[in-house]
Amino acid sequence: MFLTQDQRDAYERDGFVILRDLVSAEEVARIKRDLARACELRDGRVVREKGSDAVRMIYGMNEVEGPTGSQTVADLSCSSRLLQSAKDVLGEEAYLFHTKCNLKEAITGEIWQWHQDFGVWHHDGLERPDMVTVLLMLDEATELGGCMYFVPGSHKEGDIAGQSDGETTSVALVALGKPEMTELINRHGEPVPVTGGRGTVALFHPYLVHGSGHNMSIHSRWHLYFVYNAVSNVMTVPDDPRPSFKAQPRAVPLQVRDEPTPQAA
Ligand code: SIN
Ligand code: MN
Repeated sequence: MFLTQDQRDAYERDGFVILRDLVSAEEVARIKRDLARACELRDGRVVREKGSDAVRMIYGMNEVEGPTGSQTVADLSCSSRLLQSAKDVLGEEAYLFHTKCNLKEAITGEIWQWHQDFGVWHHDGLERPDMVTVLLMLDEATELGGCMYFVPGSHKEGDIAGQSDGETTSVALVALGKPEMTELINRHGEPVPVTGGRGTVALFHPYLVHGSGHNMSIHSRWHLYFVYNAVSNVMTVPDDPRPSFKAQPRAVPLQVRDEPTPQAA
């Protein structure tokens, strides 16, 4: 185990848990250098903002042989801090379904509408939401800078029907609108901002309702996401699969490759 009982209880109750100062400044700096290089590429892994050249997302950082690969990201994905934490909440062996970085640039970085993640992954052929996302803050996340917001407890709702939205930003998703969000917030309470310094990590459930606003600050808000899937949650590849850097069907369990590091208080 890497997570304490309290942390596992918080994840179960709220659908997320935050671990501060988990990743070192050196690791964050190395990842940011690798990402800055990847921003120069013209590749399907690099997604730009609508009508602009600013980078919105980068996929595939865990694939060291790939164009956007980063050895530091690959190493971290097998660290006890991330992998064992993921296995603690999944209760079994896990592999990486994908990694992505959302680079919400200063002033121009755009919103992510309210949504749940599992809908898309279900379309990718996954039957059960036996998955967990590990968010790593590569910049300080502030409310002004467009940090994420979570609706605590919303993961217990299961799949909530929303509306397909391919217009608002360059990334289509199934967005939850005013009626769904009003009902949800009346039931679960106000969303909470997910703020923290560089190196902060948040684990969250694939049904947890989340979203984020425009980056109004003069600082970038880069977030890296490691999405782990339980190995027993087999993917039935659909007729029109997404590329494997978005939906990895090969369920090869990852091995933890280091000793647990003490968690900061
Ligand atoms: C996401 O939900 O995939 C991204 C949200 C964000 O980066 O703010
Ligand atoms: Mn999401």
